[in-house]
Amino acid sequence: MHTSLECSLTGEVHDPSKLQGLSRAGKPLLARYDLQSLRHLRPADIRQRTERSMWRFHEVLPVDSLSEAVTLGEGMTPLLKCTQRGIFGQFSDLWVKDEGFNPTQSFKARGMSAAITRALALGVKTVALPSAGNAAGAATAYAARAGLDCVIFVPEDTPPANILESACGGARVILVNGLISDCGRLCRAACDRFGWFDLSTLKEPFRLEGKKTMGYELAFDLADARHTTDLQLPDVILYPTGGGTGLIGMWKAFDEMEQLGWIGSARPRMVVVQAEGCAPIVKAFHDGAVSAPMFPNAKTIVSGLRVPAAVGDFLMLDILRRSHGTAITLSDAELMQGVQELARLQGIHGAPEGGAVWRAAVQLRATGWIQPEETVVLFNTGAAVKYNHLLRCDNAIRLDHTSATAMDELEKQL
Ligand SMILES: Cc1ncc(COP(=O)(O)O)c(C=O)c1O
Repeated sequence: MHTSLECSLTGEVHDPSKLQGLSRAGKPLLARYDLQSLRHLRPADIRQRTERSMWRFHEVLPVDSLSEAVTLGEGMTPLLKCTQRGIFGQFSDLWVKDEGFNPTQSFKARGMSAAITRALALGVKTVALPSAGNAAGAATAYAARAGLDCVIFVPEDTPPANILESACGGARVILVNGLISDCGRLCRAACDRFGWFDLSTLKEPFRLEGKKTMGYELAFDLADARHTTDLQLPDVILYPTGGGTGLIGMWKAFDEMEQLGWIGSARPRMVVVQAEGCAPIVKAFHDGAVSAPMFPNAKTIVSGLRVPAAVGDFLMLDILRRSHGTAITLSDAELMQGVQELARLQGIHGAPEGGAVWRAAVQLRATGWIQPEETVVLFNTGAAVKYNHLLRCDNAIRLDHTSATAMDELEKQL
């Protein structure tokens, strides 16, 4: 269980036993744990656990005991080594952490499991959030599991699959004629008016805690894949970035693991990947800025990356610089090409966000920023099934089962 909540800008401590949003300075709050008292805990202890979810790391999550967790079995997603087929041959140690295997088919499940666990413990009855789509589906499911009411504010062009799963799951769906930032403003006002709890990403402390488990798992997964007991981190991590909670969370996990004595001080180079039409963090990084102004006229088909302003901007920019990382954009066409390549050459039917990180790796390989033998991890943050509206089937062959010459016709078209 966390022992305090600390402002990510000023370090000011906030009461962890009360419901908290942003810090008094208006910045994200970070959960702190007494890690010194946990130094007896070894990776081998974690490996022996029978808990098959991210909650096997429960000592560094917001619960006193495992039984408090609102869980649907999130986490423990596969880390898949890419084959060197075709264009993938440029990398000899490339991996995909496939978050599409989570409940509700995206990494948002991790954050919602942690946040709703804590909200339930602190007596919340109704949660509300703005979402690009996947967070809405995840919040709906975990709220249902916990017996809470859920209200979601989504842009009206949110993928139909996300809207339908929220509606089916009993959430109150509010369609907004604007961007996620507009949804965020309306959600805040509604929470003030109706007394709902605002679950906006990084505006409450615990979605970050759930997502940080990607960092813990990665270190275990890589060690297991290499048949070693010492936890391992890759050279490079590519992350599709909207609000950036996963990126900030993983970095926090690495620091915690170092304090636990599980890893040393070496860190992966972190890469932010955004769409050309909405790239506030990429722009701020290359401008040398410490925060990212609102990106004007944000436009991309990739709903998860359509985030023109992020409250954790200064944290992401700091991580990019401290890790000697970088930030890169892709056109919508290129990242959809990435979706196809991952599916056809690796069998991974990922989200456009996953296509984006793969194509970003190709670009960084072409410039020599990534070397062929480096260990590179791509985060495929969701499953393609949520994005069927973006996919095309233009190579199907029609065949008449009543035709006596069906095989001749098929032969002609193959
Ligand atoms: C599939 C997918 N990938 C990435 C993101 C961006 O995540 P984050 O807010 O952690 O940067 C989202 C957010 O909606 C998403 O749905």
